[in-house]
Amino acid sequence: MSKRVFLIFSLLLAFSCSLVSFAQTKAVDAEGHQWWQHAVFYEIYPRSFADSNNDGVGDLKGITSKMAYLHDLGVDDIWISPCFPSPQVDFGYDVSDYENIDPMYGTLADFDHMVAEGKKHHVGIILDFVVNHSSDQHAWFLDSKSSKTAAHRDWYIWRDGKAPGQPPNNWTSIFGGSAWKLDPTTNQYYYHFFYAAQPDLNWRNPVVETAMLDTTRWWYKRGVAGFRLDAVDTLFEDPILTDNPIEPGTNKQGDPNQERKYNDKFPEVHDVLQKLRKVADESNAVLIGETWTDNIDELKQYYGQHNNELQMPMDFMFTAVNKLSPPELRKQIAAVDGAGGWPVYVISNHDIVRSYNRYGDGKNNDAIAKLMGAFYLTLRGSPIMYYGEELGMENNDPKRKEDVKDPIGQTGWPQEIGRDGERTPMQWNTEVNAGFSTKDPWLPVPPSYKTHNVATESKDSNSVLSMYKKVLALRHTNQALLEGSYTALNEDDANVMSYLRSYKGKAVLVALNMSASPQKATFNLADKGFSPASLKTLVATPQSSAKGSEVTLEPFGVFIAEVAK
Ligand code: NOJ
Repeated sequence: MSKRVFLIFSLLLAFSCSLVSFAQTKAVDAEGHQWWQHAVFYEIYPRSFADSNNDGVGDLKGITSKMAYLHDLGVDDIWISPCFPSPQVDFGYDVSDYENIDPMYGTLADFDHMVAEGKKHHVGIILDFVVNHSSDQHAWFLDSKSSKTAAHRDWYIWRDGKAPGQPPNNWTSIFGGSAWKLDPTTNQYYYHFFYAAQPDLNWRNPVVETAMLDTTRWWYKRGVAGFRLDAVDTLFEDPILTDNPIEPGTNKQGDPNQERKYNDKFPEVHDVLQKLRKVADESNAVLIGETWTDNIDELKQYYGQHNNELQMPMDFMFTAVNKLSPPELRKQIAAVDGAGGWPVYVISNHDIVRSYNRYGDGKNNDAIAKLMGAFYLTLRGSPIMYYGEELGMENNDPKRKEDVKDPIGQTGWPQEIGRDGERTPMQWNTEVNAGFSTKDPWLPVPPSYKTHNVATESKDSNSVLSMYKKVLALRHTNQALLEGSYTALNEDDANVMSYLRSYKGKAVLVALNMSASPQKATFNLADKGFSPASLKTLVATPQSSAKGSEVTLEPFGVFIAEVAK
């Protein structure tokens, strides 16, 4: 080995070791960035990821067996959708015991083993904390409904009807029908923003608050790196139950539309988030929020006035752009990037049609999937991937009502087909059921598994998976991508989305052709203090390249390059 090669090798080794220890110690780096600001998150829907006992439903041992895959892919932390005991009315989002594991997924010992294996592979575990409601089978609710004087009565929201046979007010459940259900034992109604099997907890009761905070402490002690907080927008509602204003038309469930003015986004939620954060800070943990905000001011509030609430409120306004429109995407990124907190980018999850279908044009879906990966994984902020997105997994929607598993699809069919399509089993290989299980899985895999699976795509340097791997590897090692600022370039260009990520005199240029025709883009890098002739390709699609400061991009082409002074 020449001296020079040895020196480069040693530097690389030192740098990669420093990254490993950064993740392990969860320390703050020279830029004041915390571990979660360098992390790539990956959502796992546990029913659908890996089935170790071949019963057709995924489990924790399955997840544990895939830690090496996750690490090689470039994932730092996995967010596991609820895996707690649950009657599974809403597939785990109806929790009947917050401090245990559903036997379908395994045991607490399996959980501990998963945490330990995760540590070995530098993969942290984020749990999904369903804070707004429990299952109607939770011991708290069973006691609560047993009598008006039960110890847990005030843990939920009970009210008399307005008149015989009439609920307390006009609020509707987001999953259809009235948000109130009459319980015959005490002849009072309880409130449920989601299904009737998901009664809302009464966060105005301090005992509920203490119990929930203690639950997070309990899991932190077991080694979790943080929580994704479910449905935080709806923790509180108007105590005097004012009717919501009615709006024109009906929703997919056939209910009259209403403005959720009196049961959504109450300011009290911020007090709760501050308390949850205080506990999280004791363990250097991260709080990710399911925050469906309508504008940037609402999103800003979720960081907390003193950055003391959610470190990572998800920006769903980004997913709402929902098309390859550089002007609109630029606008949304500028708003979030300038909001004062750390941006969180998501392009799909278990409630949203997969990005492959939403952005795909039906002809160039693979190219578009690669482009989307190269896009949101190079922005300033933390990305949250959704399992299978790295393969170009597509939605596999039910074709007949009788095949629907998601209750909102059963009640809302055909206007609302439910969320089964985006929750199908992970596609591991070309074997039966995509290698997920030897038994028929709970949801069917789409025919595209034959081409879009881990085994096949791993062998193809031009696959969606290979693009994700390259970009993720770059993201973990390139200082400008780890630490750098975001500057939009060529803001008048309606086809090419481009930006610079700059840090300490070095930068990465990202140019993405969001159109179906070839494009050229010329960059005035001198203006930004960089040499126009210095573009050094880091990741690019085969027909995309640069000459001086002019970049040529194939349809939906990707060009990522290093820029120097
Ligand atoms: C949001 C979750 O993401 C969704 O899947 C669930 O149905 C509702 N919250 C209710 O918990």
